[in-house]
Amino acid sequence: MASETVDRPGLHRREFARLLTLGGAGVLAAARAEGWSDPPPLGQVPAEKDEKFWTAVRAQFLMPPALASLNAANLCPASRRVIDAMFASTRSVEQDPSSQNRQQTQQGREEARRRIAQALRVTPEEIVITRNTSEANNIVSSGLDLRPGDEVLIFSDNHPSNHAAWREKARRFGYTVTVVEQVNPHPGPDYYIGAFTKAITPKTKVLAFTHVTSSAGDLMPARELCRLARERGVLTLVDGAQSFGVLDVDLADMRADFYSGSAHKWPCGPKETGVLYVNARAHALVAPSVISLYAGAVGISKTLEAYGQRDEPAIVGFSEALAFQGEIGRKVIEERARELTAALIEGLRKIDGVKVWTHPARERSAAIVSFQPAALDVRKLHEALYRSDRIVCSTRPGADRGGLRFSPHFYNTHAEIDRALAAVAKHVRAGL
Ligand SMILES: Cc1ncc(COP(=O)(O)O)c(C=O)c1O
Repeated sequence: MASETVDRPGLHRREFARLLTLGGAGVLAAARAEGWSDPPPLGQVPAEKDEKFWTAVRAQFLMPPALASLNAANLCPASRRVIDAMFASTRSVEQDPSSQNRQQTQQGREEARRRIAQALRVTPEEIVITRNTSEANNIVSSGLDLRPGDEVLIFSDNHPSNHAAWREKARRFGYTVTVVEQVNPHPGPDYYIGAFTKAITPKTKVLAFTHVTSSAGDLMPARELCRLARERGVLTLVDGAQSFGVLDVDLADMRADFYSGSAHKWPCGPKETGVLYVNARAHALVAPSVISLYAGAVGISKTLEAYGQRDEPAIVGFSEALAFQGEIGRKVIEERARELTAALIEGLRKIDGVKVWTHPARERSAAIVSFQPAALDVRKLHEALYRSDRIVCSTRPGADRGGLRFSPHFYNTHAEIDRALAAVAKHVRAGL
């Protein structure tokens, strides 16, 4: 950031102007009250554990220090530099909406495609910039030519966009859907490789599963399942909503045919931007469901990304989010999220009556932990954690591994994890 300052301590001239434009004096006053100033520089990414570095990462986000958001699986905040990039681009379009000026943001969209491809270790020609994972999954289930006699194999713990969507399209197009059931606790990668191997038949055309489930955070052996499918001539759709932006995903190694993700989850990008990866060998197999103008410039985006006018400044923000994570390092971010999750699992297990649904082994989970908080009413606990302890999380209502879900990310600190554990222990002890 530039170093010019204005007469308000800690507020930056650029930020000052931006706040005024955003919402006038009210927004500025709110920012001042929160002591919004330039975040400290990140400095070198440490080779060893260093909480100071992660505290500096935390300061790159607008959330006030008192708020601990352990809800990355649902929605992540965008960092300041993402908001700045998006705002600068939005402002430019609004100041000069000419097609000449918008060429810049269109170039930003292609730059985003290159960054997404680089993050996932594939080529820009294989990337479609979507609105979110739901849309990406549905592009696949609507676009493949499946007919009566064909079979699609799905996982019972898939999100509706990769579960209900296949069932609905099977009803319309006359093919069948077979389900491999989830088992709790996660019985290990070999169990699922065996279960999917048994379930594949000569009629199976697609295998659609979730890389990391949103329920208990079960990690599926994606690489092995993709290999199994490939050897049998079956296409794979891997739902990456809970792995993109947190695991160091290598699609060149996984070799899925399709992989989907959302920028507004773990990548900490703007809302309503996402990705569909389409392996080059599957390009000819997917027909576009939306046909309009303003396609992407290269590869599969020329056919599957002609959605009409886009919010290109949001896509520019997506690109910035990936640049930010790339500078810290994707492996470093994965290890940090795993470390915080391990601390949560360990702490929750020590609280009397708490039942943790997530298996702690590295090959069975990633950065999501769900648990039954003894006999407490889950909705009341969710409210109490937010209102009195300033901890954000999700509820998992229902009989199937019901309870609460914590999903920490690289912007969380160990102090926040300790605070969440202490708050759960306090409520379990005292009741609600
Ligand atoms: C595994 C999985 N797939 C898909 C989605 C849908 O994501 P979005 O709402 O960004 O489309 C979610 C959302 O939580 C999810 O957990």
